[in-house]
Amino acid sequence: MRDSKEMVILAIETSCDETGIAVLAAHDERIEVLASELASQVDIHRLTGGVVPEAAAREHVAVIKPLLDSVLAQAASLDEVTHIAVTVGPGLQPALAVGVQAARILSYRWQIPLVPVHHIEGHIYSALLNTESGIKNQESSSFIIPTSNVFPVLALIVSGGHTLLVHLRDHVQYEVVGTTRDDAAGEAFDKVARLLGLPYPGGPVISELARQGKQDAYAFPRPMLDSGDFDFSFSGLKTAVLYTWRDIPAEHKQVAAADVAASFEQAVVDTLVHKTCAAAVYLKPTRVLLAGGVAANFSLRRQLAEALALRNLPLHIAPTALCGDNAIMIGLAGAMAAVAGRHAPWLAIDAHARLDLARWAT
Ligand code: KG4
Ligand code: ZN
Repeated sequence: MRDSKEMVILAIETSCDETGIAVLAAHDERIEVLASELASQVDIHRLTGGVVPEAAAREHVAVIKPLLDSVLAQAASLDEVTHIAVTVGPGLQPALAVGVQAARILSYRWQIPLVPVHHIEGHIYSALLNTESGIKNQESSSFIIPTSNVFPVLALIVSGGHTLLVHLRDHVQYEVVGTTRDDAAGEAFDKVARLLGLPYPGGPVISELARQGKQDAYAFPRPMLDSGDFDFSFSGLKTAVLYTWRDIPAEHKQVAAADVAASFEQAVVDTLVHKTCAAAVYLKPTRVLLAGGVAANFSLRRQLAEALALRNLPLHIAPTALCGDNAIMIGLAGAMAAVAGRHAPWLAIDAHARLDLARWAT
């Protein structure tokens, strides 16, 4: 028998190339993952060197029902689900629409309230609810809800689609203080990998290759370091890598690749660390969060933690298993949004490829 104060959240994520379904139980102070399934489409998108939106949507359609059946069989019947949390944006429109449509059907048929979730909220909460600071990987099945004393909080969200510095004054209140003017950090990793002839997604392969290279072999630019704001730009760095790589003679390319990867990775890490520290000095948060696919990067985790430690600021990183897209993070953000009173009837929600986090309030 479930306790009557418990919320049982069915979470759905289909914004890009991962189909995620999870069931979470939320209590006053903690949230537990009861079941979670994740189907990655990486093998499909590797063939095209990136994500083709229609191919992603087709794959979500193919796997969403079996994944849903599986988590419900493990965790709860639909009668027990009190809320459905679903990513409504931002992301690839055809991909988002699959999850949103599934959520609408379930909500209509079983009369379950819907909680629309902004994808970035999910990334933020995957780190905010990780109570332990430091670079050690944490468990990803049980989370403690921090009290309002932890605010203000600064979050660095780095993924394939986003590079954002977000300031939170309270739960589910977001102010974007920095963003990328062009490529996202993960996108830069993916493009540089493609340039070096490495497979998609580029982040993990570049960081693996970088371990064997010298970080100061090439003096790549640290874009916008002194721009006076907290914005980022990575396309100039990518172009610098392109020209350097083009000028390396073919017979030296194999040897040079590790140095190029290491120098490029260090330029990205330096830029992210510099801007995050500058924003932290300005905003004086009690802690800094790191999440998103690029948060799996070990050099970034370590160097950001070290730089913040010099300023006596703890860094809370999303568990590695939750750095990439998943439904657990959508369930965590959905639970917090539901507590704050956010819900919508099934007819009122839709997928939005572009969705502004700043104007996303409860
Ligand atoms: O959060 P995520 O799974 O999807 C988006 O919302 O975009 O992030 C995927 C991105 C990809 O660009 C991938 O190359 C990058 O995260 N990534 C990494 C690492 N692992 C994944 N980038 C750098 N180092 C890594 N270890
Ligand atoms: Zn993401």
